[in-house]
Amino acid sequence: MNRHSFGPSWYRSLIICLFLGFVSSATAGVWEGGDPVKGEQLFNANCASCHKINKEVLAAPGLGGIAERWSASEELLVQWIQNPQAAAASGDPYIKSLVERYVPTFGWMAAQAVSEADIADIMAYVQNPPGKTEVVDTGDACPTIDDLDQGSSNSSATIWFIILFVLFLIIAVSASNVRFSLNNAMRESEGGERLAPISYGMQIRAWAWKNLVFVSLIGLFVVAYVAVVGYQSAMDVGVYEGYRPEQPIQFWHSIHVCENEVDCQYCHSSASKSKHAGIPSTNVCMNCHKGIKNGKRWGEKEIGKIYDAIGFDPTSGQYIENYEEKPIAWTKVHNLPDHVYFNHSQHVAVGGLECQNCHGDVAKFTVGRIAPVEEINALIDDYPTLIQLSKPTLTMGWCIECHNKAEVDLTKSGYYEEIHNRLKKEIRGNEELRNYLGDDKVTVKELGGWECSKCHY
Ligand code: HEC
Ligand code: HEC
Ligand code: HEC
Ligand code: HEC
Ligand code: HEC
Ligand code: HEC
Repeated sequence: MNRHSFGPSWYRSLIICLFLGFVSSATAGVWEGGDPVKGEQLFNANCASCHKINKEVLAAPGLGGIAERWSASEELLVQWIQNPQAAAASGDPYIKSLVERYVPTFGWMAAQAVSEADIADIMAYVQNPPGKTEVVDTGDACPTIDDLDQGSSNSSATIWFIILFVLFLIIAVSASNVRFSLNNAMRESEGGERLAPISYGMQIRAWAWKNLVFVSLIGLFVVAYVAVVGYQSAMDVGVYEGYRPEQPIQFWHSIHVCENEVDCQYCHSSASKSKHAGIPSTNVCMNCHKGIKNGKRWGEKEIGKIYDAIGFDPTSGQYIENYEEKPIAWTKVHNLPDHVYFNHSQHVAVGGLECQNCHGDVAKFTVGRIAPVEEINALIDDYPTLIQLSKPTLTMGWCIECHNKAEVDLTKSGYYEEIHNRLKKEIRGNEELRNYLGDDKVTVKELGGWECSKCHY
């Protein structure tokens, strides 16, 4: 190698280096060098409504680990985010598989108005979200209330009581048997006649007469026990609490709300708009179950019942023509008597109450049931605005107690605020008004929430 040839080759290396540097800085645009802090804001503003990071949820796949998974080019990634259908038209096999897997269930991702630099920031964030230790959820983190119910000490006390009672009976009966045989043995040895065997009933009666005090004590004890248990269940369990009817399909709230983060109002969409919260129609189930045909728990069995109801052939993926639909016959869980008027939107939209305040932690339910009031009160850590109540759920005492405690936010409605201000001017000399308005708090009761006609037709 002479000095002469060194020049151009060194020069060439430099050019190659510069070129490579250029290329890698172009690619670093998406996978490297993004700003995760800006990325977090962009992700929350644009993507978080559908995507989580480490979890496939209701509307889209998780974006964590996307760099390892995404095998199409980076230009196609940018194009996918800015215009998914155009990227799919490229025919790239990864994008083809993405579309086949998700579009039938979730539909097309919406085109996003984000620049290439924004995308780099977002990718920096989703690859390595700072300070976030989101657990990859496999569903084990979603306990159901039924699991929590197990091992209740109440029933075991009853079982012990029954065991003791049965033991006691056996001892009593065998003791009287022994006495009977001893009696006979004595009579025989004295040369007398054997006694004719008598029935158990007669033996017990005879024995009871002989031990009258003891038997009466036991009797009193049993009566007292039954009375206490009966009274407790009447007071604590209420008329409805814990009611949990069989349903035609194993529809579990825990699978949908907790494991898959479906919002309550996706299915009970009228809760904030009308009197009834409503039970979703079979079509709503099909939004997702057209794609999700096989369940982790019951395979095709339970999901198959949806297809049977609506007439859908899971193998062909087509609706069966001229099929006579069979609506799914859900059993009503909450059922107030006909003479009571209850309106959801008044409580959810106007009153601003959480569903949990009246229905408990439905996200952990298997099938629908009526949550006991103690169970609802215990949710206070997760839902700080919950109003703590003591009367059994769904009874009149429960409605009224809450109306006495719940405050109405007068500032939310100009109409209420106006009335309030006018009344405050008349407060002097009016003892009753002063009691009502003196504390500057207005409860539902003070607005008439205790009037019989508000709740009764
Ligand atoms: C309206 C819902 C929605 C929004 C908003 C949304 N996406 Fe998506 N995204 C989807 C869906 C759904 C898919 C799955 C493919 C399909 O069905 O179109 C997807 C797929 C993707 C994929 C491919 C995932 C994989 O596993 O290969 C990427 C990457 C992606 N989105 C990025 C983004 C980014 C970045 C944003 C925000 C700027 C965003 N998405 C906003 C719905 C959305
Ligand atoms: C994927 C759809 C879906 C979602 C999401 C959902 N539910 Fe339900 N819900 C149902 C179905 C179906 C039933 C009827 C079966 C049953 O009672 O278990 C039901 C029943 C109920 C009932 C009892 C209804 C009755 O008959 O009295 C209540 C209360 C309820 N849901 C509240 C909620 C709350 C609160 C949430 C959110 C935390 C929620 N649901 C989320 C579908 C859904
Ligand atoms: C927003 C999407 C969505 C809607 C709406 C929806 N589901 Fe699901 N459902 C899912 C997902 C996701 C799973 C979990 C599948 C798995 O993990 O096995 C699931 C699981 C189930 C399972 C359990 C299957 C098994 O064997 O584990 C049943 C049963 C079921 N759904 C019934 C229904 C019914 C009935 C409706 C309508 C009232 C409904 N679903 C509405 C998304 C949905
Ligand atoms: C103030 C208490 C309260 C709140 C808050 C509340 N509910 Fe209810 N919910 C009830 C009562 C009471 C019933 C029984 C109504 C009846 O039998 O007429 C009921 C019934 C239902 C039913 C059975 C179907 C129906 O419409 O009767 C569903 C489903 C339901 N609620 C869902 C929800 C959801 C979802 C939310 C939150 C968005 C919610 N509820 C908020 C008290 C409440
Ligand atoms: C968890 C608290 C809570 C429970 C339980 C509750 N309510 Fe209410 N209720 C409210 C609140 C808050 C409002 C006020 C909404 C507003 O700002 O107008 C309200 C308002 C009402 C109104 C309208 C009152 C008026 O002056 O116009 C009626 C009717 C009503 N509730 C009926 C019932 C019935 C029936 C039940 C029992 C089945 C019940 N509520 C249980 C909190 C509750
Ligand atoms: C905030 C709502 C509310 C108000 C106000 C209210 N009630 Fe009730 N009432 C109920 C509910 C809910 C039930 C049903 C409870 C049940 O089924 O256990 C009920 C049940 C009753 C019953 C029992 C009927 C039966 O089926 O056994 C009587 C009687 C009654 N109310 C009378 C009244 C009178 C009188 C007033 C006025 C002083 C009044 N209620 C005010 C909600 C209310």
